[in-house]
Amino acid sequence: MILEIINKKRLGQELSEEELKKIFNGYLNGEVADYQMSSLLMAICINGMSDEEIFSLTKIFIESGETLDFSNIPGIKVDKHSTGGIGDKTTLVIAPIVASLNIPVIKMSGRGLGYTGGTIDKLESIPGYRIDLNDQEIQKQVEEIGIVITGQTSNLVPMDKKIYALRDVTATVSSIPLIAASIMSKKIASGADKILIDIKVGKGALLQTMEEAEKLKDIMIKIGKFYNKEVRCMMSDMNVPLGRCIGNSLEVWEAMEVLQGREKDTNLGKLCYELAAEMVSMGLNVSKEEAMEKVKTNIENGLAYQKFVELVHHQQGKLEGIQFSKNQYQIKSPQTGVLTDINALELGKLSLLLGAGKENIEDVIDYTVGIYLHKLIGQEVSQGETLATLYYQNTLPDINIDNIFTITEKNV
Ligand code: URA
Repeated sequence: MILEIINKKRLGQELSEEELKKIFNGYLNGEVADYQMSSLLMAICINGMSDEEIFSLTKIFIESGETLDFSNIPGIKVDKHSTGGIGDKTTLVIAPIVASLNIPVIKMSGRGLGYTGGTIDKLESIPGYRIDLNDQEIQKQVEEIGIVITGQTSNLVPMDKKIYALRDVTATVSSIPLIAASIMSKKIASGADKILIDIKVGKGALLQTMEEAEKLKDIMIKIGKFYNKEVRCMMSDMNVPLGRCIGNSLEVWEAMEVLQGREKDTNLGKLCYELAAEMVSMGLNVSKEEAMEKVKTNIENGLAYQKFVELVHHQQGKLEGIQFSKNQYQIKSPQTGVLTDINALELGKLSLLLGAGKENIEDVIDYTVGIYLHKLIGQEVSQGETLATLYYQNTLPDINIDNIFTITEKNV
């Protein structure tokens, strides 16, 4: 039976909900082997899935664990998810802005995947910060301060946890049906009323083209309709990293900068304002323009930053304990010109070599290492000027500057 199911998908045929249940539930309870599931996942990657199959798969994922219910908390709960990017610390900025406008935020975040860092890893760079709140603690904290950012509770979509780990090591991550079921199941199971998805497109993202991103957007909106949840999607560029910092404690520091009204004009600053305004528009049922005014006001009057500090404090984090490695190396520009490209993927790889993420499951993250970009795209640089500082621990990895930075001679 299992072989027949795999074979059917290999031939590009549609699987029924019963067949999907049989193989996926069988995998979760250990009756289906890793190699069988890997084979099915690859067949899905190559042959895709119909909308019906994706709806069924999402349902099977949701039903694999608990479904949280926060309907007793007043207000529209808007959740946000990013498909993953390099230097993406937007959740750390947006969640406190939205909560400072009295929209309840319950954010269950994940760890890094591949070259992309995860919100939970970044928060763990704050000594003491608890990422393991249980359902009762989440409920209590939202009632008290209107915001929680924690790890996914252990029984939230266990199917996704198991399948994701397998996808990560079988080159089956970049599949639109699998991404859609993975993300939407977690958002629906965690009790969101409305969902905003930041779909990253480009060299440093899971999806490389706008066409793929549009397909993912369409199916996520359809899944949302099926569950009666409004879903909005924003496409954002991931050819270049987001902001100046890559690496856990550096990214927390940069998020605090944006929350205090600095770095407004970087790609990070602009994206944070856009995403926050979209969430506020959904949460308060107001226009995006009105929402954007509210976002700007709460950054300028300090309430958004105050909410971040309150959040960290409530989850027992000590901001004053954040550490940055003392070993620093400056990458200098080999020539004079204009910085026309910064390769997100190469920087993602470099940050892994520095130890900011995990290459293997058993690796331990070094929160103090990372990359700070002094120069951003479009800026002029002189020969010998610092382009970036690397924060490293013991040994400096080999760096090929030409793979990372493109400097073009200035037209005179
Ligand atoms: N983020 C997820 O949570 N799941 C995916 O499959 C891809 C990105």
